[in-house]
Amino acid sequence: MAMGTEDKAQAAKTNLVPVDPRVAAFLSGPKRLLIGGKWVEAASGKTFATVNPATEERLAEVAEADAEDVNRAVRAARAAFERGPWARMAPAERAKLLWKLADRMEEHLEELAQLESLDNGKPLTVARVADLPLAIDLFRYMAGWATKIEGNTIPLGLAEPGSYLAYTVREPVGVVGQIIPWNFPLLMAAWKLGPALACGCTIVLKPAEQTPLSALRLGELIEEVGFPEGVVNILTGFGETAGAALAAHPDVDKVAFTGSTEVGKSIVGAAAGNLKKLSLELGGKSPNIIFADANLEEAVAGAAMAIFFNHGQCCCAGSRLYVEAPVADEVAERIAQEAQKIRVGPGMALDTEMGPLVSQEQYDRVWGYIRSGTEEGAKAKAADLGFGGRGYFVPPTLFTDVRPEMKIVREEIFGPVVCASSFATEEEIPAVANATIYGLAAGIWTRDVGKAHRLASRLRAGTVWINCYNVFDAALPFGGYKQSGWGREMGHAVLESYTELKSVCVRMSPSERSA
Ligand code: NAI
Ligand code: MG
Repeated sequence: MAMGTEDKAQAAKTNLVPVDPRVAAFLSGPKRLLIGGKWVEAASGKTFATVNPATEERLAEVAEADAEDVNRAVRAARAAFERGPWARMAPAERAKLLWKLADRMEEHLEELAQLESLDNGKPLTVARVADLPLAIDLFRYMAGWATKIEGNTIPLGLAEPGSYLAYTVREPVGVVGQIIPWNFPLLMAAWKLGPALACGCTIVLKPAEQTPLSALRLGELIEEVGFPEGVVNILTGFGETAGAALAAHPDVDKVAFTGSTEVGKSIVGAAAGNLKKLSLELGGKSPNIIFADANLEEAVAGAAMAIFFNHGQCCCAGSRLYVEAPVADEVAERIAQEAQKIRVGPGMALDTEMGPLVSQEQYDRVWGYIRSGTEEGAKAKAADLGFGGRGYFVPPTLFTDVRPEMKIVREEIFGPVVCASSFATEEEIPAVANATIYGLAAGIWTRDVGKAHRLASRLRAGTVWINCYNVFDAALPFGGYKQSGWGREMGHAVLESYTELKSVCVRMSPSERSA
């Protein structure tokens, strides 16, 4: 007889990493809002629970910010932006603080990785080698930019040479509201905070209600390394209340948002009141294209990772797989086999390769898509989880026999679910790949360099990975075409979205001109 469901869940539990005492201490302490350098209760006194998605047990109670707390935090951020040490701080000092924060995070890497795993569900082993190192490196990369934010001198086309001195300077955009999701809680906080701080902005950060913990611990480290009060304010709370109030606030100069396309559109509306600047990093339905001439070993492993990494909870997940006809059946079969091999379990177990989804809501949503795919006639090859019961676990699933009009092919699922179909020629693939409202990322697998570049140039996507997938680097811009968003994160491209460009034009009297 096969191992019983409870037995398997128990077996997985025996490998659980003991919770770091510093994590336990953090979890048992109060989780307040960071406003103006002080940890305070929400004005309403309300709190909400954050849950371990592997057990459905409550991890901690967290202060629940609403509009009144947003007002307080924006006031603190405005004061820090206009007065106080931050406004007068030399760029090199800002760089030092960012670098110190990165060092501090490295000292607390295990603790932060555990918080991430407990709150989000992702494997601890992944948080240790992906989320944390990427977040730390992002702060170091941005520390480097703090001293390199420059303008240009501009020769005026219609003026006699030397009669004007014209130049541009980049100034911080001001008070920034940052609203982030739960799929990479700490990394998304880093993507947002790093460039804003490098540019000299002040910030009100709202982490996702599903995963508030690592941002709060980061807030403590930010305080410890000596960022002046009010520079970073952190409000835990819900989107419809705290998030919406931040997006609509008349004294916020810019909002940076990562999350669903639907909420992104509501933020565009909310921002209209004071025409605040916006950057939006939204959904995706990214095509991953495998040609018959690819190294199939690598392509199969890469395509599985493209969709199953982080349980498919990636905006750039390779969720539409297109395989050239001669190898289509073989590739689909091999990816389904890879899916079978993935060890699904609690994130805190060292042998877990895939954890639970983040929440009941996402669990219901992803299962809804799996049902809808089956009802519309697609064929599912799903890994056998082997255990039921508690936790938001969903099996890695590959659909074949899909048609372009199916919901599972058109809509972002945000779970470990990939739709595989075949194509006949290189010519037909750009239209198929681009047939989506999104344009975040794409993958191409081939040994033919010419074909790879030809196709890369025809894909309407912000990132194209060739013979790789999910490669992220603080130096490489990331963002979307079409309804995947506005603006870019990371690289020097992101500095544009946290600065205003000022043109200064000086008329030079004859005595001031150079000879
Ligand atoms: P969401 O877009 O509702 O939440 C993301 C963030 O926005 C959270 O901090 C949330 O509190 C905040 N928020 C929600 N409503 C808001 C509002 N009216 N005004 C201001 N802020 C608001 O995403 P959710 O509900 O967690 O997930 C739903 C779907 O969104 C997922 O299934 C996935 O398809 C997509 N998503 C995409 C992400 C990405 O990285 N592009 C990340 C998270 C979700
Ligand atoms: Mg939502």
